[in-house]
Amino acid sequence: MADTHMTDTTAVRFDRFGEITELALQTVEQSPLAPHQVRVRIAVAGLNPVDWQIVESETLAKVFGITAPSGYGNDFAGVIAETGSEVVRWRVGDRVFGGARGAAVATSVVLDEKHRSLHRTPDGISDLTAGVIDIAGRTASAVADALAVREGELVLVGAAGGGVGSILTQLLVRSGARVIGTGSAASAEYITSLGAQPIEYGAQLEDALRASADGPIAAAADLHGVQTALTALALGVPAARIVTIESEEPPSGVIAVNGSDATPDALPRLLELVAADELTVPIESVYTLRDFRQAIERQRSRHVRGKVAIDTSVA
Ligand SMILES: NC(=O)c1ccc[n+]([C@@H]2O[C@H](COP(=O)([O-])OP(=O)(O)OC[C@H]3O[C@@H](n4cnc5c(N)ncnc54)[C@H](OP(=O)(O)O)[C@@H]3O)[C@@H](O)[C@H]2O)c1
Repeated sequence: MADTHMTDTTAVRFDRFGEITELALQTVEQSPLAPHQVRVRIAVAGLNPVDWQIVESETLAKVFGITAPSGYGNDFAGVIAETGSEVVRWRVGDRVFGGARGAAVATSVVLDEKHRSLHRTPDGISDLTAGVIDIAGRTASAVADALAVREGELVLVGAAGGGVGSILTQLLVRSGARVIGTGSAASAEYITSLGAQPIEYGAQLEDALRASADGPIAAAADLHGVQTALTALALGVPAARIVTIESEEPPSGVIAVNGSDATPDALPRLLELVAADELTVPIESVYTLRDFRQAIERQRSRHVRGKVAIDTSVA
């Protein structure tokens, strides 16, 4: 049965680019569904740095096809609440997750039934996990593929405790690598819990690695600026085995990887590992929609451990 009452959505939106103070909760009327559209009632929206980076940069927003006014966020999980007249792929009540750029921090979203990031949530996977995995999961998976680590290799991960790093570190450890992960001193215990040896980022990183690394570093992933990539180069890691995800101009020879490089089965495979208790998607904090500002400010602090989520079912 279609939920014909769900034509309004409460959404975090901005009317113009600038500061994140431009963001506000707005009630928006959604049009009736076109024949091939579905309405997803969102339960959880996961936050990523790119969400606030888009509000702050019209140039970046353009890359993602976003113009103001716009909604906010990307990662979501929820349930199909209504289907268009021609939809065959989905039924009302199906649990789904994925990415809806500029639309996910809301009580509902309208998507094409073939939207490329609309997936069935596997049994045994919570909305909280599925709702934060789209960007960080695809990116961690793409970086792990690009690094192609071998059993026993020593791998340096910059920002090992962040949203991407928390998943990547576990994937590398699962592949048999020994991982050294950078973070602040306060994150050392958390990084250890992911299976890595923690080391502090900062000017002393290269010296600290020379003093403490147990053998030569074979590969590196930089998930925050370029310090880890430059340090790895200085330590003799071949550029072709260094990956960065956030530098527009990576140091010479270093490989730039994006979440969009992930294979189509990346998310289902990660969730299989989660269901088998072989991977965790750590969630640092969950906020209500009303407290969206605190959630975004926490995400924007750049010191998140794992993921920040918004429970959109609680207004
Ligand atoms: N190209 C792509 O497709 C793609 C995809 C996803 C993300 N990204 C970008 O990659 C970056 C990481 O994403 P994310 O979701 O993992 O971010 P995140 O969750 O916000 O990362 C937070 C982590 O960064 C660490 N950190 C803070 N300052 C650092 C520094 N100076 N050096 C090293 N680590 C530092 C923090 O450690 P402490 O708390 O211990 O300080 C924290 O664990 C973001 O800039 C994002 O925009 C790009």
